[in-house]
Amino acid sequence: MTQLRFLLNDTEIALTEVGASDTLLDHLRLTRRLTGTKEGCAEGDCGACTVLSGRLTPDGLIYEPINACIRLMASCHATHIVTIEHLGGPDGGLHPVQRAMVDHHGSQCGFCTPGIVMALYGLWMTNPNAGEAEIETALQGNICRCTGYAPIIRAALAVGAAGGQTQDALARERLAVAARLRSMRGARVSLARGGDRALIPADTDDLAAALLEEPGATLVAGATDVGLWVTKFMRDISPAIFIGHLMKEIEVQDGMIRLGAGVTYSEAMPLIARHLPQAAEYWSRIGGWQVRNAGTIGANIANGSPIGDTPPLLIALGARLVLRRGDARREIPLEAFFVEYGRQDRQPGEFVEAVLIPLPEPGDRIAAYKISKRRDSDITAVAAGIAIRVEEGRITRARLSFGGMAGTPRRATLAEAALLGQPFAEASFDAAGRALAHDFQPLSDMRASAEYRATVARNLIRRFWLEQSEPGLPLRLRHPEEA
Ligand code: FES
Ligand code: FES
Repeated sequence: MTQLRFLLNDTEIALTEVGASDTLLDHLRLTRRLTGTKEGCAEGDCGACTVLSGRLTPDGLIYEPINACIRLMASCHATHIVTIEHLGGPDGGLHPVQRAMVDHHGSQCGFCTPGIVMALYGLWMTNPNAGEAEIETALQGNICRCTGYAPIIRAALAVGAAGGQTQDALARERLAVAARLRSMRGARVSLARGGDRALIPADTDDLAAALLEEPGATLVAGATDVGLWVTKFMRDISPAIFIGHLMKEIEVQDGMIRLGAGVTYSEAMPLIARHLPQAAEYWSRIGGWQVRNAGTIGANIANGSPIGDTPPLLIALGARLVLRRGDARREIPLEAFFVEYGRQDRQPGEFVEAVLIPLPEPGDRIAAYKISKRRDSDITAVAAGIAIRVEEGRITRARLSFGGMAGTPRRATLAEAALLGQPFAEASFDAAGRALAHDFQPLSDMRASAEYRATVARNLIRRFWLEQSEPGLPLRLRHPEEA
């Protein structure tokens, strides 16, 4: 197939000339003149460009807020893109979410408003009874500079309580839309605009074959990182292979979670809440809601970033990676994937297919921490995953992994050695904190100084001890020199 096909509001779009780096936002604003969707940051941070993306899952059609600015066009194949223009009723009246924003004075200058309405629309459809905390989580990726969030939250509470979701157009047309999207799926799609090429494999076997044909191709999943290569660095990503619709399996068996590389942060969230509740808060601080709906765990690992959000926690849990090249697969400990800054253990033509995460066992104590300048929707300065096992008062297993402390996510082997075999006691954690100083020589950059990183990493070990030894205790702060 050589056509990109998707639904835009109530119109079916078929395009033959599509480049790898064409963005959905440019298509909406420049080609379709749907200018209700705004451009602010062009990097997935502000939410002004929020639209809904409807896609087929094994459980049916779901709609999720995403950032149109970093959604590349080829990722829209066989999806339903819904913009703010689609919300007006046939008589041109306001949608209930818009009406609530007006009634509760949720908009002043209005620049952020379409994006906020689309995020709240996504929430209203999926969680009609959302409380204040859930509304705040849904709005993590939407910045409003002038109204303030209190009236917006009041609007969201009011429209949730008012009901009416089953009468909404997207609910009534669900079956028809799903059938239209199903008819668009199937074969491999090859797209080009001039020499700029994009390929959408039909399935994972097709991806394996395509990557052997084009071993140097850019793999694009949710484009929450690659999108910035395009919008901020004007990088040429052609040829690109789009894989965000593939490798979606989630399985739990034999003491192991198996996550396909294409599972998004949002798709994994229920699993994290059930099996790793200690990491649920950390997980909810990865990007904003729109980013979590698009970004995948496999790509977060594969891009090799020293500050990727998932590797420190996954390494601490003892995760393994499944890599595939053609029909051949190999399995490696996750930490072995990160060779050095900018270099991963991935051969030409090979891709990350899945990550295997052992389920915690009795006696396991687990925590994940993210330190960033803003609480929400921010890049990590230091991240830590800590998993220890305590048996009869002794530490029999210790895995401590940090991001932002070296050129790759890495285990703190000296701190681990300081804990292993020792009593589960404050002195052991103090010793681990001292050992950590020899594990890493962090760098200074715009996110944090080397000294800050070293101090905060050590303090995270102390925080872990305090939380684990006296659950519920308010955290005490202590200067590092007191140790
Ligand atoms: Fe800011 Fe897209 S324009 S998130
Ligand atoms: Fe002005 Fe939100 S209403 S930025």
